[in-house]
Amino acid sequence: MTWHVNTLMPLSADSSEPAADHSLCSLNVVPADAFLYPDGQNTTQVKRLLTATLDEVLDTLSAARLLPPVPENWPGISTSQLLPAQPCSPQELIQASRVLLQGAMNPAHPRYLGHMDPLPSTASIAASLITAAVNNNLLSREMSPVFSDLEQRLLRELSALFGLPASSGGLMLSGGTLCNLQALTVARNTHFNVHAHGMSGVSRQPVLFASEACHSSIQKAAMILGLGTASVISILTAPSGKMCPSALEAAIALSRKNGQAPFAVVATAGTTVTGNIDPLPEIAEICQRERLWLHVDASYGGAVIFSPRYRSLLAGIDQADSITFNPQKWCYVTKTCALVLFREEQILDRAFRIPAPYMSLHEEAGHINLGEWGIQGTRAPDIAKWWLTLLQLGQAGLAELIEQAMQQTAQFLAQARRRDFLELATPPELNIVCLRDQRHSYDEISRGKQNTALQSYLMNEAQTFVSLPHYRESRWLKAVLLNPFTSSKDFDEIFQAIDRFPG
Ligand SMILES: Cc1ncc(COP(=O)(O)O)c(C=O)c1O
Repeated sequence: MTWHVNTLMPLSADSSEPAADHSLCSLNVVPADAFLYPDGQNTTQVKRLLTATLDEVLDTLSAARLLPPVPENWPGISTSQLLPAQPCSPQELIQASRVLLQGAMNPAHPRYLGHMDPLPSTASIAASLITAAVNNNLLSREMSPVFSDLEQRLLRELSALFGLPASSGGLMLSGGTLCNLQALTVARNTHFNVHAHGMSGVSRQPVLFASEACHSSIQKAAMILGLGTASVISILTAPSGKMCPSALEAAIALSRKNGQAPFAVVATAGTTVTGNIDPLPEIAEICQRERLWLHVDASYGGAVIFSPRYRSLLAGIDQADSITFNPQKWCYVTKTCALVLFREEQILDRAFRIPAPYMSLHEEAGHINLGEWGIQGTRAPDIAKWWLTLLQLGQAGLAELIEQAMQQTAQFLAQARRRDFLELATPPELNIVCLRDQRHSYDEISRGKQNTALQSYLMNEAQTFVSLPHYRESRWLKAVLLNPFTSSKDFDEIFQAIDRFPG
């Protein structure tokens, strides 16, 4: 079909389509389908663009197994296409969308095992379309009436699910990194009372404690907060990958002795590389005794709260002052979808809030503008993707997905344990297996090279993407088993390829 850029109708439009009313809009250059006319005159044309895009998306996602898990080649994008002087035709737009789809990471591939990135629920894809279409803004109530209300109410329910008291609640932010930053900012402001005057009046060096396996966002937060990365005191992990409570106690005592000012402990529930869970009850007890803020980074592991069979892995999380949880990981919600919960919701008002006087107040109704409570100003209504996913799956559906992933992990592990040349980094607790091949190597350097080569071999020979994290001074292969379509046949073929690896 040929399209005219400056008319409301494609040249060969169906004659039954309503004629466009050009007088509605005086734009000349802007294409007819760039915006929906508020009275619906160009719905057919816009629908054509969106339907064509949807077809491309469905064609790509429904061929996920045929496409590589991580594409290396895609049609080139020439420099002249980057900043076009004139509008492109709808065909060119679709062609460009195709390039994006072909060059995208493909987490829907059943052998995409490398990271905590799931295939997305169809409900969250639908919700992404809704939120993009209505273009609301979580900055304020008036800019996102239903979404602000939904976010606050649903996060209170989730807080209760994690066992926090009735006073708890939270907000969403664009990713776990920002959630950890928000939690540690509130912890710092509460402990040192520095909301207004900053850290210059704090004479002793503030420090916090986190295991050596914590996510790098904790160091990032300390750096952004002006404390410096050295203020994160790294606590040894046991061979289990979990923080050693005795090492934590010793480190707190030492830092006090050295004149530092401890204010928080970060425990991780689902470490990024090995998926281990710090001993939350013991850490909570230490925090209570030492009067330290307990933040639990459950970005990944928080998902098991939905499984009656596995939620006991999170025992002790109910003692947290704050919790980060990313449904964008093991709950199959499109990015971004992350939230931070506080034991006492109102602490956000006291220890964080910066009013936005250009917004209406709704406080008389007990409604806060969430942009005043959070690091971000303008923010997308990610809650819609999370809520529609919860409606689509129900808690029972999420439980089934989590329990199936744990079963897949058991199968994968059984295969690994049958091969004594494979070494596990830690005993897996969730659905993450981190291992390395010890054949063909005699020291750490050659082992690192061998496993780097094995990663490429698996990609080339078994269409399998595992990642290559750096852990305990070495390179390991990491598999995250969260795709319900990864089968035991996939595992057989992956391990047969490992057996064939020539080194
Ligand atoms: C334990 C943990 N915390 C925090 C994060 C950061 O989350 P995001 O990438 O959404 O900022 C990650 C990311 O993988 C993580 O594994």
